[in-house]
Amino acid sequence: MKIGICNDHAGVEYKSKLAKMLSSRGIEVVNYGTDTEASVDYPDYAHRLASAVESGEVDLGIALCGTGNGMAITLNHHKAIRAGLAWSCEIGRLVKAHNNANVLVLPARFISYRMASAIVRTWLDTPFEGGRHERRIEKIPL
Ligand code: RB5
Repeated sequence: MKIGICNDHAGVEYKSKLAKMLSSRGIEVVNYGTDTEASVDYPDYAHRLASAVESGEVDLGIALCGTGNGMAITLNHHKAIRAGLAWSCEIGRLVKAHNNANVLVLPARFISYRMASAIVRTWLDTPFEGGRHERRIEKIPL
C-alpha cells in the first residue's frame, strides 16, 4: 500500500506526524506537500497529489490544509478523484464506506492531531460497501 500525502503551510505539522504513523504501520508514504510554514497556494499541492492518484503512482491520498475545503475543491476537479472532507471518525468511516473516497481531506486547523490520526486509521480500515453506493458514485462524473 502506497499513500500520497499533500499539504499547504497549515498542514505541515500533521503531515509529518501522519507520515510517521503510517510508516510505522508498514505503509509507504510519498510526500507531495510543502515542508515549511512559509505561505503557499494549496492548489499547487492538491494537483500534484491528484495526478499521482490518477496515474496509479500511489493507491490513495491524504490532503491537509487549514479548513480542508481548498484541497477538497481542487482535488475534486480531477475526474478520477473522490476527495472527502472528514472531521470525525464516523465521517471518516462513511466517506470510505459510502463514497469510496480515494483521497481523505482533513481540516488541520480545526481538529486535534489525535483526531486526525484516528480519522486516517478509521478511513484506511473501512472497506467500501458497494451496492447502492456503487451506483451512486458511478453517477458522479460529468
Ligand atoms: C491558508 O491560510 C488557508 O486558506 C488554507 O489552508 C485553507 O484553509 C484553504 O482552504
